[in-house]
Amino acid sequence: MAVYPGSFDPLTNGHLDMIERASRICGTLIVAVLANESKQPLFNVEERKNMLRSVIAYPNVVVDSFHGLLVDFAAAKQATLIVRGIRAASDYETELQMALMNHRLRPELETVFLMSGEAYSFVSSRLVKEVARLGGDVSGFVPPAVLSQLLKRFKNKV
Ligand code: PNS
Repeated sequence: MAVYPGSFDPLTNGHLDMIERASRICGTLIVAVLANESKQPLFNVEERKNMLRSVIAYPNVVVDSFHGLLVDFAAAKQATLIVRGIRAASDYETELQMALMNHRLRPELETVFLMSGEAYSFVSSRLVKEVARLGGDVSGFVPPAVLSQLLKRFKNKV
């Protein structure tokens, strides 16, 4: 059992690529949405989970959400792996810190990193939101279900 955690605000094609590849190497994969309202997300947790569920089509992947520490959520689910994606060297530093902290908190949990697909190495939820908010075309970076939600959210706000 593995957990792929993130904010997914919103999910991008890069996340989907990661989920598809992780689902092939993990028994069950829990895509875990961070329910942390202090991050002031664009989409609330239910909206983020619904978008994920509407585009994920793998029988061994489930969508869930968590509060508090990721390692506690993973332990409660009896997961043994945390999966994270790395796009560029700049991701590595933060990811290393998180992996080491998580390992110190619960040494029985391992973090594994998958390198993001090259087509997605520059795609982030933050940039997708910024471009969409300013009226740019993000159709190549998110699934259609997410695109329509973004367009709805930013209608009249440009
Ligand atoms: O998609 P993101 O925003 O890069 O995901 C970050 C996430 C959700 C993996 C991270 O912020 C997290 O695990 N938060 C939960 C709180 C926690 O466990 N903090 C200690 C991590 S070292």
